[in-house]
Amino acid sequence: MKSQQSYQVFLDREQLVRAAAQRWMELANESIRARNSFHVALAGGATPKPVYERLQRENLDWDRIHLYWGDERDVPADHPDSNYRMVREALIDHVPIPEANVHPIHVLPDIETTVEEYRQVLDNLHRGTNGHPCFDLIMLGVGDDGHIVSLFPESSALTVTNTPVVSVYVEKLNSWRVTLTYPVLNTARYLMLLVSGEAKAPVIARVLGSDTERRYPVQKLAPSGRIEWYLDEAAAHELQESS
Ligand code: 6PG
Repeated sequence: MKSQQSYQVFLDREQLVRAAAQRWMELANESIRARNSFHVALAGGATPKPVYERLQRENLDWDRIHLYWGDERDVPADHPDSNYRMVREALIDHVPIPEANVHPIHVLPDIETTVEEYRQVLDNLHRGTNGHPCFDLIMLGVGDDGHIVSLFPESSALTVTNTPVVSVYVEKLNSWRVTLTYPVLNTARYLMLLVSGEAKAPVIARVLGSDTERRYPVQKLAPSGRIEWYLDEAAAHELQESS
């Protein structure tokens, strides 16, 4: 993964969240000024939720902001594990974003129909130079096994290059997921990676340190855009100790 990348280490998760929300707003306003819209794929999991909650309070041009998801669990939209539900509760229910601007991965009984429907949603996005959908921003969390979205180690989805979204069975979770694939991640103008907590320290030390063995899915990112890492000290401490 050799791209334009930078990382910032913040004292704690609260500082990380504040900085990430501020940057999200900058990128949104920059995109709206340049292209009259901001298309962002949101991360699931726990780390980004307070970022979404902070965005509730900001004066953003929600008419020109379009929300998508980087991945989704194979559960109904009102299920506690749904990434859509998490974002709806943390942000969507609190801001005047038009319903037409919210593009969830609409989970249906047949997962391949879910994939096809979302593929058609992504067809409406601007194309990057490689012909894949181009997001202005994709937010990502990183698992303690180095997974991003639902691209887990040893997954069949890691080698998919001909389509922007796939279904994938995640052995370790014994569950199905729908996930963006590397071609779309690598086409985004910006990637924002949010990593908090002690459990992520070993992965961060390797990914941002001198590890040459690219064992983690996050290390297979090769974006044409810019990667910005937002870390707290707990996640970065092994990196700092080794540098
Ligand atoms: C998901 C996310 C997943 C997440 C990482 C980190 O659906 O859970 O897409 O990739 O970002 O597992 O999750 P935390 O932020 O909760 O550590």
